[in-house]
Amino acid sequence: MSGLGVNIDHVATIRQARRTVEPDPVWAAVEAELGGADCITFHLRKDRRHISDRDARLLRQTVRCKLNMEMSLDEEIVAIALELKPDQATLVPENRQEITTEGGLDVAGQFDRVRATTESLKKAGVAVSAFIDPDPRQVAASAKAGCQAMEIHTGSYANAAGPQAGRELELIAKALKIGLDAGLIVHGGHGLTYNNIIPVAAMKGFTEFNIGHSIVSRAVFVGLRSAVAEMKQLILRAAQQEQ
Ligand code: PXP
Repeated sequence: MSGLGVNIDHVATIRQARRTVEPDPVWAAVEAELGGADCITFHLRKDRRHISDRDARLLRQTVRCKLNMEMSLDEEIVAIALELKPDQATLVPENRQEITTEGGLDVAGQFDRVRATTESLKKAGVAVSAFIDPDPRQVAASAKAGCQAMEIHTGSYANAAGPQAGRELELIAKALKIGLDAGLIVHGGHGLTYNNIIPVAAMKGFTEFNIGHSIVSRAVFVGLRSAVAEMKQLILRAAQQEQ
């Protein structure tokens, strides 16, 4: 069965709307763990639009399950990751204008930089995952760059409707197989919700799903602990019908 990584950036986004101290993403991490999260995911962006350096430091000190830091290849952020030593770093593209991470990282197009960053993170004891589109070229490049894992960008599937959703699922399944055959640990994430998680989580071979917006949205009504527990239940149910 795959684990659930809860992305807590969205809690920090609410805090930053008022530039105040609440809600605290560090508290959110505790609630998510109590709800059954297997991993806490945060993204320290260059522009610090949600998670701050203080959050990152406290998360490292308090999170008891796996800590996954989403990060760009930016030098300053890489230096922070080397000092912080999260359990896992997920390399993502970053673009100042975007509302959230858009496409996957172009590992093939900036191969040398990804390989060098991956090497230095691994030397510091940080496992490295690359967030990529379900594209065989990017999967092969991630393995060649030394990444131990990849996270398949599920956003196109999440945004698709009707037969297109089926086609997107096929692309995900293909990328999953190529990744596993290349010896990579495979994660998935972006745009996953209580309504669309089952067909992806029913695919055998995923190790982790990173989910944020949908869980935090539900938490407004039921509380974060319950929202996380409900998503965990769905992943568990999907695993029982694994294909
Ligand atoms: N995985 C990665 C690499 C991301 O950048 C994000 C968004 O921060 C997520 C997963 C979670 O996406 P969502 O908030 O749509 O669940």
